Amino acid sequence: MKSLARYALATIALSGSPAALAVDFESEVQPIMREKCFKCHSGPRAKKGIRYDDAETLAEFIGEHEDAVIKPGKPDESLLVELASLPRDDSHAMPPPQRGEGLSIPELALIKKWIEEGASLEKGEPSAPAPAAMEEPKLLTWTNTDGNSLQAFFIRLDGGNVVLKKEDGSEFSYPMSKLSIDSRKQASDLGKVN
Ligand code: HEC
Repeated sequence: MKSLARYALATIALSGSPAALAVDFESEVQPIMREKCFKCHSGPRAKKGIRYDDAETLAEFIGEHEDAVIKPGKPDESLLVELASLPRDDSHAMPPPQRGEGLSIPELALIKKWIEEGASLEKGEPSAPAPAAMEEPKLLTWTNTDGNSLQAFFIRLDGGNVVLKKEDGSEFSYPMSKLSIDSRKQASDLGKVN
């Protein structure tokens, strides 16, 4: 029952409640994987080398590189989420069809929330320091992958873009993928509370 309540919370948080709780990898995400993925993704013979039982190895599959199956802040671009969301009769689905039970909707929601919060493997690390809700918007510095920066207010997230407003009042939208890691995190953190 306890974990069910937690799932319910995760679902509420996903729908934008400001009372979002940080999802903890070891106590919340890993138990799901233990049940549904460890059979093939643990130990030295793990499929594709992806080990959900070992944070250090798993860390190699988290990031923006080609082998990454988890892209922090981007559940919908993460291969893991993609495969685990496939219909149960799709041959690419994870776990493979007929080889195990798929993730339930609340389990998937919890994993997506964990990824959205940055897919931290650290124990008890708080998710983003929640910016004080409903305060005056602050002029923030944004840096892109080329190292150029500008000052703008955060307005909202819009799909893969962040909508910003310059001091002169003009709004523009910028692809998250072209932001520096810090700015991307800043945008997804702000997107969560707004
Ligand atoms: C019955 C065995 C089995 C189970 C259970 C299983 N997997 Fe897999 N997984 C595989 C195999 C086999 C591959 C390699 C598939 C391939 O080479 O295309 C794989 C590959 C993957 C990949 C990488 C795909 C790629 O192309 O790089 C991901 C991500 C993945 N699994 C996630 C999961 C998740 C998440 C779970 C649990 C929800 C899970 N798997 C459960 C057998 C399994």
